[in-house]
Amino acid sequence: MSYGQFEQFIRNMSRVMASVNTRLQRDLTMRSRLSRRFSQREVSEFLNVDPTYLIRVANEDPAFPEGTKVGRERTFSPDEIMLIRALLDANPNARRRYLHWRAPTEPMKVVTFGAQKGGTGKSLSAAHFAQYLNLFYGLRVGVIDADPQSTISLYFADDALPLFDPETLTIADFMGVGDPGAKEPTRHDAATLDSIWRPTSWPGIRLMPGGANIQNGDIAMFFMSRNAGIPIYRLLKDAIHRWENAYRPMTPTTEFRRPDGTFDMDRYGAALHETLDVIVIDQQPSLTLVQLNGLLAADSVVMPQTMKGFDLATLATFVNSIAEYLDFIVGYDKDFVIGAGAHFVLPTIVQEQNDRDTTQILDLYEQAPNETLQVWYARSDAIANAADEYKSIYEYMPDKNRRQSAQQFMRNANAVNDAIVGKVWPEFEQRGYAAEFIKDHWETEE
Ligand SMILES: Nc1ncnc2c1ncn2[C@@H]1O[C@H](COP(=O)(O)OP(=O)(O)O)[C@@H](O)[C@H]1O
Ligand SMILES: [Mg+2]
Repeated sequence: MSYGQFEQFIRNMSRVMASVNTRLQRDLTMRSRLSRRFSQREVSEFLNVDPTYLIRVANEDPAFPEGTKVGRERTFSPDEIMLIRALLDANPNARRRYLHWRAPTEPMKVVTFGAQKGGTGKSLSAAHFAQYLNLFYGLRVGVIDADPQSTISLYFADDALPLFDPETLTIADFMGVGDPGAKEPTRHDAATLDSIWRPTSWPGIRLMPGGANIQNGDIAMFFMSRNAGIPIYRLLKDAIHRWENAYRPMTPTTEFRRPDGTFDMDRYGAALHETLDVIVIDQQPSLTLVQLNGLLAADSVVMPQTMKGFDLATLATFVNSIAEYLDFIVGYDKDFVIGAGAHFVLPTIVQEQNDRDTTQILDLYEQAPNETLQVWYARSDAIANAADEYKSIYEYMPDKNRRQSAQQFMRNANAVNDAIVGKVWPEFEQRGYAAEFIKDHWETEE
């Protein structure tokens, strides 16, 4: 056998890649991470309050953030928006919640975005969902990047995060399978698990970065799977529980104010980081053992899926393989609770001008109304530009001539996320974006 050419090619490329400047574009993106600010009108929409109410609170409460003055308008950063939520929520006479943090007795939720196929918008949908929960509900979100390609990490990493550094710990380490030669998983204590989360520029959002060593996790689990005593399919779920039990919600928002009514920034800052309300997992596009763990750790699985016939065939393969795993596990591990929440397909990158895509959605919906989201991501040019810099539509600041298409895609993202919130947190007040989308797209003129 001769593989000389290939070997030569690999050696040349690895030499070339060491000197090619791959850093420049990446560094620019990370340095400008979340420089986006939001207008007063946008802030009142996020909080679901009247703009005049915000102005009144701003005048009355000395802790209200100044924002930045642009002409006659003030703009606010996501940090400041979170603080405004906390101020409103901690008002003794607040009539509703502004910070939708879970109560100490409520379990944390896990929502996993997974599908067999690459390029179906999993990472972008997961990033949008995490940021929407943060902007519109104030949730503290843990984002787990379960893909060795680290796509979602690129949407969150800033220049403080050592991404692509082989020493940076990943989900494989969190699960205790970072060492491909180990005989059994390492049971890290809660403090070690906690140190794997990295802060991001978003208030209350933490990231477990992706990295090449996620593949080591699969190799390690493959060898461990020969030992029937090691439940390799639930390592992630068990590690999440171990972490969650040690980092519970402690501080009711009423404690943000001192007896004299002034706002305690330290107390609030500590509470923002004491726990998570939800974990969002972005899966890799293949049914590996790490991916299996991500599916089985979830309360809800969202399957982003393009609507081409061939793509739907991969969905069929994907669910069939999962079904086989489930048959095996359910028979074997009787007290393991799998996916107690809602699970559904999210149609993505839909070409609305093309009847074939929408007909496909209709067909899927008619056969599986509970398993198919009625709201989808339309194909958008705006996001192609934003994604060049790994910016989500919530972070992207378009120049003038792209502003309209960006706004349109943000409305689309809001509708999708509102629909997912309705499925995952039926007890939350929905925002009406999904209902509006359904009215526009399903109630056809007769
Ligand atoms: N609605 C959309 N319209 C146009 N392009 C999109 C849309 N959603 C995702 N994309 C693009 O498709 C590519 C794959 O998206 P990504 O979220 O990384 O998919 P996955 O995680 O499933 O591989 C990215 O370049 C992304 O910008
Ligand atoms: Mg991806």
